[in-house]
Amino acid sequence: MKLFCSVLLFCTAVVSNSFTTAFNDSCQSRCGAGFDTAFPCQCNTKCLNYNDCCTDYTATCIYGGDATVDGRACKRFAQVMEELWANDTDRLDARDVTLNYQAQLPAHGTILDESPDKFFSYVNESRLSSPVYTSFLPLLDNYNPVKNVAENVTDEKIAEQNQFLDVLLDTAIWQSVYDYLKCEGKIQDMSDLRTLFKRLWFDLYPRSGKSTILDSSGFEHVMVGEYKSSGTVNGLHSWLAFYEKEKMATEPNINYYGHTCDVHPHTACTAYDWDGRTKRLSSFFLNSSPAYDLAMYSLCYVMQRGTCHVVVDGQVKTIQTYSKEGHIATAFVVA
Ligand SMILES: *[C@@H]1O[C@H](CO)[C@@H](O)[C@H](O)[C@H]1NC(C)=O
Ligand SMILES: *[C@@H]1O[C@H](CO)[C@@H](O)[C@H](O)[C@H]1NC(C)=O
Ligand SMILES: *[C@@H]1O[C@H](CO)[C@@H](O)[C@H](O)[C@H]1NC(C)=O
Ligand SMILES: *[C@@H]1O[C@H](CO)[C@@H](O)[C@H](O)[C@H]1NC(C)=O
Repeated sequence: MKLFCSVLLFCTAVVSNSFTTAFNDSCQSRCGAGFDTAFPCQCNTKCLNYNDCCTDYTATCIYGGDATVDGRACKRFAQVMEELWANDTDRLDARDVTLNYQAQLPAHGTILDESPDKFFSYVNESRLSSPVYTSFLPLLDNYNPVKNVAENVTDEKIAEQNQFLDVLLDTAIWQSVYDYLKCEGKIQDMSDLRTLFKRLWFDLYPRSGKSTILDSSGFEHVMVGEYKSSGTVNGLHSWLAFYEKEKMATEPNINYYGHTCDVHPHTACTAYDWDGRTKRLSSFFLNSSPAYDLAMYSLCYVMQRGTCHVVVDGQVKTIQTYSKEGHIATAFVVA
């Protein structure tokens, strides 16, 4: 009996020892655990900032951690998000866009214009001739950026929104969004998806909490940009909106000041002056089509409101979304 016990203890010790030494550089059973110096790498979202994630962090905690869909027919959230990247056939290639980052500005304190040249030094505009761009670009001048001034809704603007929505919902990206949201029971049919999109993005609402003036929308805030006050800018999380404003010869154009985070392959953070108002940080995806940006932001808002982790070209990114009475208040990628 004594011998049996000691054999058993010995065996347990061997097994658990080989387990810790073999697996303590992995996120198996450690997703979300607090920082712990006993381990050579970490498995919570902060490891993304500190660059000390275990190599299987993405596979285990971002893909594998999505346990709620296990055993169901729907694809995993992270897989859908990554397929959107692969299916963004309208995204511009690296050779179609030349960026000029110039000065890196401090994350805090006063920001000054330390970059004499434009951020976008070249964009191959013939790439902007596909329907998703030709239907998106006319929407950029449909809004009054001034706070507390009601938007002027016209039949022409509504027609442009509907035209864009027709094109958008026809893209491979939005077909995936449709399949996924339908599988998850968020919509029943295409008309539900149209209604949902309009509520999230196009319906007007007051930007200021106390106001009743319909001066804003998710689309204006995120995809176009608006003024916060006489001194600052609000929103603007679309590279195309930035580019179109920067390209204008005179005010209300954008004057790029510098970048406020490190250089990343698919996202950027910019500081600038727009029409005499400054913004310290507008982050956006680079070179992506509006179909992609809107799909990422919409799916994060609907499925993982607040902080949402996604996989973009194999890299984990964070998208932040906020709600205002059922509409998108803001949505942006944390660059
Ligand atoms: C991790 O593995 C190393 C080397 O194999 C070992 O020295 C260390 O004690 C292990 N840490 C934990 C928390 O198991
Ligand atoms: C594009 O999306 C479809 C789903 O609609 C998916 O089956 C396909 O794998 C995706 N393409 C790529 C290259 O990921
Ligand atoms: C710009 O894009 C068009 C259409 O894709 C392509 O034919 C052309 O070669 C590109 N121009 C440059 C300078 O890369
Ligand atoms: C709204 O726009 C239309 C068409 O441009 C214009 O005729 C009208 O005066 C505008 N209304 C307001 C209140 O600005």
